[in-house]
Amino acid sequence: MAVVLAGGIVANPDGAYRADVRIEGGVIAGVGAGVAQDGDCVSDVSGRYLLPGGIDAHTHFDLPMPDGTRTADSFSTGTKAALAGGTTCVIDYATQFKGESLRQGMENWHRLADGKCFCDYAFHLAITDWNESARGELPGVVLSGVTSFKMYMAYKGSLQVDDGVIYDALRRVTDAGGLLCVHCENGDVIAARTAELLQEGRTGPEYHPVSRPAEVETEAVSRLLAIASLTGAPVYVVHVSAYASMVKIIEAKAEGVRAFAETCPQYLCLDDSLYASGRDAAKYVCSPPLRGRENQGGLWASLRSGLADVVATDHCSFDFAGQKDRCLDNFSMIPNGLPGVESRLLLMYKGVAEGRMSLPAMIRAVSGNPAAIFGMYPRKGALIPGADADVVVLNPSGRTVISSGTQFQNVDYTPFEGIEVPASIDSVYLRGAELFRNGKFLGDKPMGRYVHRAESGAPV
Ligand code: URP
Ligand code: ZN
Ligand code: ZN
Repeated sequence: MAVVLAGGIVANPDGAYRADVRIEGGVIAGVGAGVAQDGDCVSDVSGRYLLPGGIDAHTHFDLPMPDGTRTADSFSTGTKAALAGGTTCVIDYATQFKGESLRQGMENWHRLADGKCFCDYAFHLAITDWNESARGELPGVVLSGVTSFKMYMAYKGSLQVDDGVIYDALRRVTDAGGLLCVHCENGDVIAARTAELLQEGRTGPEYHPVSRPAEVETEAVSRLLAIASLTGAPVYVVHVSAYASMVKIIEAKAEGVRAFAETCPQYLCLDDSLYASGRDAAKYVCSPPLRGRENQGGLWASLRSGLADVVATDHCSFDFAGQKDRCLDNFSMIPNGLPGVESRLLLMYKGVAEGRMSLPAMIRAVSGNPAAIFGMYPRKGALIPGADADVVVLNPSGRTVISSGTQFQNVDYTPFEGIEVPASIDSVYLRGAELFRNGKFLGDKPMGRYVHRAESGAPV
């Protein structure tokens, strides 16, 4: 039976307007006035916004660490938390570690995720071992629906690759029809500064941001953009934290470089004063680190104007007790990353409510653009006929206080503790099935499907 969500405001990438949404067979069957047909089940959503399901284009679930531990969230708990927060699709970073083929990296991630996900899921592939056979495997990976890749300019000695590799990979990935995403921080300078700090006895978590100031990000972003410009390849810069780095990307776009910029809620809503919180500073150890508050206005403005493309979380969760707090006397050993997949949509809506950007600009950043840039549009990313019926019913008269006590994320803290959002999520539909309502899951079966992605498209 078809369902009609009637009386709400549809928020799409191209605008927000009064319209009913008819859902049939898991897809959007109609949007507008009078779409209901005899026999439809009509649900009154007046006073509510209907949003396309969020797409979080940057997660790390079930990520193995060099010491044999793993992130706190698995695909099961991470995608459950995503869904509860209005995210109906994640793109997780599968990783080819040193000595592995690309195929092995993909198989490892499918083994971790298949059959366990509560929302839909896709993979990027991070490449850490670039060699002749990896080059040969690339076209096959793209054909298998993994059309984006990642390389790291940081994490010297483990994930980092050099500029020659980035140059070659940009060309090869583009030739194969893929898009390269890059973590931009100068890993060599970070390693040198880290060694200096540790030698001077400056070892606590508050020195993590000192080891990797904004300059090391901005320098790496500039270098990447210069290399991309030489090759003519498109490039996607993950987790931009400093406004100066965003400016470099905006300038490069103006000069014709096909660059995309992603930022994250932690860089928009939190700042580096949190590193003065003693032991708790370890909770905020992520790379790039939180920045000075003076960066935030420019990052929000970049989103508002559409110069920044995507807000993703870089969800990479570690418990404070037993994981983050194990190396308080050596910041360089604290596992890097923050949880956030559950809070992204509401935190961005808080930005809308505070006038930092329009609702359609938010929808472009959290759903439309990640869908388009990562080859899922128009199947996902907008409430339009034929699209998957991934729908979030948001109540702008509600109230949510973000707290570890109420979260579904399987981690013992949230960096956004106590932040109040003037809205709440009433319901979340995944491909037409209402799976979450008023704070509760309506079933316990993981219904998420793997999404085979097409080539990257232009932002919406
Ligand atoms: O600190 C972070 N961001 N950890 C996750 C891995 C990465 O660099 O994206
Ligand atoms: Zn990264
Ligand atoms: Zn990441």
